[in-house]
Amino acid sequence: MSPLNITVNGTRYELLVENHETLSSVLRERLNLTGTKIGCSQGSCGACTVLVDNEPVLSCISPALRFDGSDVLTIEGVRKNGVLHDLQQKLVEHGAIQCGFCTPGMVITALDFVNKNPNPTIAEIKDAISGNVCRCTGYKKIISAIAEYAQEKYRDKKKTIPVSERSGPIVGTSRPYIEATKKVQGTAEYTDDIRRKNTLYAKFLRSTYPHAHILDIDYSEALKLPGVRAIATGKDIPIHFGVLPISQDETAMAIEKTRYAGEVVAAVAADTEDIAKEALKLIKVKYEPIRAFLTIDDSLEDSGTDERIHNHSKFNNNIHKKSGTAFRRSAGRIK
Ligand code: FES
Ligand code: FES
Repeated sequence: MSPLNITVNGTRYELLVENHETLSSVLRERLNLTGTKIGCSQGSCGACTVLVDNEPVLSCISPALRFDGSDVLTIEGVRKNGVLHDLQQKLVEHGAIQCGFCTPGMVITALDFVNKNPNPTIAEIKDAISGNVCRCTGYKKIISAIAEYAQEKYRDKKKTIPVSERSGPIVGTSRPYIEATKKVQGTAEYTDDIRRKNTLYAKFLRSTYPHAHILDIDYSEALKLPGVRAIATGKDIPIHFGVLPISQDETAMAIEKTRYAGEVVAAVAADTEDIAKEALKLIKVKYEPIRAFLTIDDSLEDSGTDERIHNHSKFNNNIHKKSGTAFRRSAGRIK
């Protein structure tokens, strides 16, 4: 343990932290600032973005001790005196929030970007938020909200009245999405934010191959690790599901083979997240890689002797199903 002096949203903290502890872990677990979200834990999605000394930082991959003496701004510090920041207000008004999981990181990134780039073009905004992944809203509304915020902040000083405060007819008027104001402030509660006594932590082992047979999974050593409570593989949950009757081809974890890099092959439940992570390192999986189909053209090819991704396909390639002449004509390659 080492001492960490850090100021977060204007409050100074003196903490003792582990050398490997990340900034996101300090914010979420010790300071209970759960507005900073963890999407990928590997620096890819931007959900965990905070400002450290006015620079955006991916807090999930940054050791906290690196920021001794620093000033941190998280989503909880963006709203001032109980009033949404103008950028937050714009995101709410533009309907730029659905699940809201990406929103705190998006707000922090956009805030920093507009502060440093008063007159941004749409292309520059797109570029600025390219490290923040949004899986459900789509980017159009987010980009237009940021653009309008920048425009009003630096050029037209006219202020719009928050939708929630506008009077007049309700029918025919866009209303803000329920919970959007919570989500834009990072105060909406997601499963990962709920703290319960005696909770077990789950971690997943994921395939490193896009297409491979699973020959063996040996988790005997991982099970011996103190604090590990259970380990499961795909064979333990052989239940198939899917959206359409033809495609009841999904399982919670891979069984017998993996169909994409990152597919879950084993799950560990342990007393702490660190123990679960350690256990993952002790699981040995034997794969037999087979041909991967990485592009649409690859997949449309006659797979010949290559193994198809799904056995139930009626065609001699990886076409799942054909539907509609217009679709077939536009696709061109499908006969
Ligand atoms: S959670 Fe940090 S980048 Fe995804
Ligand atoms: S609003 Fe759901 S991921 Fe962006």
